[in-house]
Amino acid sequence: MNKTYVVGNWKMNGSLELVNELNMLKFNPNVKIVVCPPYPYLGICNQKDKVYSLGAQNCYQSLSGAYTGEVSVDHLMETGCEYVVLGHSERRTMCYETDSVVNSKAKTALSVGLTPIICVGEPLATRQSGGFYKKYILDQLEGSLAGLDLESVIVAYEPIWAIGTGVIPTNNEIEEVVQLIKSTFKNIRVLYGGSVKPENVGVLNKIDSLDGFLVGGASLDIDKFQHIIDKS
Ligand code: PGA
Repeated sequence: MNKTYVVGNWKMNGSLELVNELNMLKFNPNVKIVVCPPYPYLGICNQKDKVYSLGAQNCYQSLSGAYTGEVSVDHLMETGCEYVVLGHSERRTMCYETDSVVNSKAKTALSVGLTPIICVGEPLATRQSGGFYKKYILDQLEGSLAGLDLESVIVAYEPIWAIGTGVIPTNNEIEEVVQLIKSTFKNIRVLYGGSVKPENVGVLNKIDSLDGFLVGGASLDIDKFQHIIDKS
């Protein structure tokens, strides 16, 4: 089944050269392509004839003010963003972002019309501790999604042990979590992220309940990214 979204998260990678290579991406009528480069590239990526939508990797929870180094949702709107990735595990771990911070950011993003892509996922130790990972993921979602219009947000299930490791869960493992999320939070869209590559996208694409993929490393190579788009 076709996937609706393929989102490329460049993280703190990429260059002007890669920004120029985005011109080589080909339109795919079945897939909404979203590219999330670092902040400084957003403006230059916002070309009229681009085949992708733009997303940011973060935003601040207040609309404006004395928050040196932060970027507001209005700034993102003015640079052409439609999406914003929130609560990525790297931000949760390295920048101590809690569910409540992610929730505030999502509310602020929605207030200006940005679609939040809210990331959740368990660490390896939690996955290995019996069924506790399910509660862990649901707790993250309950905190991060509190009070939000579920139809206006996208969730990305990204098990931390699969991010950048080349290890991916089985389709059954992914499907179990996607079903759990969709049965608890009605009408929510769910992406899978964590080591999605041209070599495994064909297998992952068999998970009918998934709405798409969040791609890190492989989105930094335009040929690989295109391959994932075309196989999604
Ligand atoms: P990866 O990253 O595809 O490099 O594993 C995914 C992500 O962190 O969003």
